[in-house]
Parts: sequence; structure tokens; C-alpha cells
Amino acid sequence: MEKQREMDWCVSMPKIELHAHLNGSIRGSTLLELARGLGEKGTIVFSEVEHAILNSDRSLHEVFKLFDLIHIVTTDHTIVTRITREVVEDFAADNVVYLELRTTPKRNDLKGMTKQSYIEAVLKGLSDVATVDVDLACQDLSTKNSVDSCAISNLCDGTTRKKIYVRLLLSIDRRESTESAMETVKLALAMRHLGVAGIDLSGNPIVGKWETFLPALKFAREEDLPITLHCGEVPNPVEIQAMLDFLPRRIGHACCFGEEEWRMLKSYKIPVEICLTSNIRTETISSLDVHHFADLYNAEHPIVLCTDDSGVFSTSLSGEYSLASSTFGLGRIEMFRLAQKAIEFVFADDAVKGELRQMFDSAARKLNL
Ligand code: IMP
Ligand code: ZN
Repeated sequence: MEKQREMDWCVSMPKIELHAHLNGSIRGSTLLELARGLGEKGTIVFSEVEHAILNSDRSLHEVFKLFDLIHIVTTDHTIVTRITREVVEDFAADNVVYLELRTTPKRNDLKGMTKQSYIEAVLKGLSDVATVDVDLACQDLSTKNSVDSCAISNLCDGTTRKKIYVRLLLSIDRRESTESAMETVKLALAMRHLGVAGIDLSGNPIVGKWETFLPALKFAREEDLPITLHCGEVPNPVEIQAMLDFLPRRIGHACCFGEEEWRMLKSYKIPVEICLTSNIRTETISSLDVHHFADLYNAEHPIVLCTDDSGVFSTSLSGEYSLASSTFGLGRIEMFRLAQKAIEFVFADDAVKGELRQMFDSAARKLNL
């Protein structure tokens, strides 16, 4: 009962989500439905994947096997559009007021999909959201571009309905080549005015080499495109140090850091996106009582609670706050302040930050904080 009350309170609080992978945030019911459909067509054997979808206890290795399945299921533009719409609606229903959604642009010649058309399908999904107003870099949406501008203009009508700011980060997958990573950065730059706000490096942490992605990441930096890196998901001191020396705007996870890496991280003050449930489910951290959240929080190091893959790990951002509260003894004011501090780490511009500050101030008054 008490637990439910705290969860309800976490839902009622405005929140900022900075580390959510689009396809990892797919609704469980949608994944099952799509997989069943592919089973009927004979593309996959449904009974073989059903267990992988329903079993929520997965190792890091199994999670990446599930992502391979998710990618088989999501190769169509219309499906990408549907998933995007549902994911944004789910975050908005959880009172997320600012969402940075990251996704890996995919090319699929059989479906006539290019990296650009993939992102256009994502943008179409944002324009299809009906339950909430989506703010997507409004000021430039009137510019003629390859996306249906009529479809998007209704996102910015300034109504008083519930509103969610959405910005996209384009992910470079660690399986990609230097050229492919560069293509993603160029696409992000070309689509900046449509709400693309930065670059992420993600994918299976035991695959690929930092040097492969460095030219594309350096180029992004030269063009002022903010960067976040999945860093330290597995023990790899050389790569972790190279990543920290690169001074990304944020990093995700930081699970397998040694003493020297903690020292560097803290001296550079790089904000960390913390995904508690994801770290436990993938066993990158053995249990919550040894999670680095506590140390970073007590050291007042910049951190932000995030979901990573809310669909794959059956969680929500409110669930992550509730978990942090019950595990680390955070009270309501502390949780609210933690959510509010995330404003300073968003990749959107100062105008959005200003509006978010006002939203949080007014929520604090309403919640009597
Ligand atoms: P997508 O980029 O929208 O297709 O989202 C799923 C992809 O995000 C996966 O295929 C991975 O490349 C990446 N991803 C999701 N969760 C993790 C994680 O915990 N570590 C590293 N990469 C991840
Ligand atoms: Zn991630």
C-alpha cells in the first residue's frame, strides 16, 4: 500500500528522460503482436522467440539477442512510426515532460529503407501522437523539408494541453564502420532543425573499437553536436579513459569503473545517466546496495535517473525513481530535486531549459514542496 502510494507520487511528479532507446522502449504487447504476425508469415518461428520476449530476467548477452529479434520485427517504416507514437504516449502518460529518445538509423534495402527514411518514419510517429502535444524544435518546423510539414505543424499550436518536449539522438551502433558512423553524424546535422539534438554511441559493449567511431564523434563535436557515450558497461579501462578524455557532454552507465576512472569522472564533472533496473537485469551491477548511484549522489556528482529500455526491462521512469527512493532512502523533496536537476543536462537549447524550469517551479507549488 505504502509502496503504491510512493509510486503514485513518483508518477505525479514531472520527470526528464535522457537515456531511452526507441526500440528498447517498445510496448511488450506490441512486440508480442508483431512477433506473432511474423510467425504467421513464416519469417520467424514464434514459439522459439515467445519465451525470450516474455522472460524478463536476461543477461547482457541475452538482451542483445532480443534486440536482434526486435530489429527483425521492426524493419517496416509503418512499424517504426507506430512504435515511436506508442513510446512517446507511454512516456507522456508517466508525466515525462522532456524526452530525449535515441535510436540507431537503420538501412534495409529490401524495404527501401535508408537511414534518412528511417528517421523520417520516427518523425512521422511523433506527429501521430494524439494524447499529448509534442514540442519538436518548433521554431523551424515551417521550413520545407522532406518530412510532411503539415503533419508536424499541429504539434506546435501552443494549446494548453499536456505537453512533452521530444528531442532525438541518433545512435551509432558499435558494429558500424567509420563511414557508417560518419553518415549518421551527417544525417543528424542535416536534421537538426527537425529535433535531432545529439549523438549517442551504443550497442554491444564487447563489439567494436573506440578508434573506429572517433573520427565521426570528433566531427560531431566540431559541428557543436552534443555527444553522449555508453561508457564502462564492461571492464575496459583503456576505452573508458579514452572516452572520459574525449569529454562527452554525458555518459551512460559507468558500471565497471576502477578507482582511477572514478577520479577522472568526478574531476571532469561529466553527468552520468543512471539506469538502475537495466544494470541489475543485465548483471552489469550485482545488486543495488553496491550500485554507484549512492556514491555519486552523496558526492553531489551530476546524475540523472533513466530507463534505458523500458519495454525490454518492464520498467518506467516513475518506477526508477520509486526504486531509487526505496533503495537509497530518498524522500519526496530529494526525488523532485533530482528530477529537476536533469534540466541542466538536456541537449535542447536554453529556451527549452527555461520553460522546463518554469514547469518544475509550478509543479513544486502544486505538490507543496
Ligand atoms: P534502437 O537504436 O532504437 O534500435 O534501440 C535498440 C538499440 O539500442 C540496441 O540494438 C542497442 O544497439 C542499443 N541499446 C539498448 N540498450 C543498450 C544497452 O544497455 N547497452 C548498449 N546498447 C544498448
Ligand atoms: Zn543504453
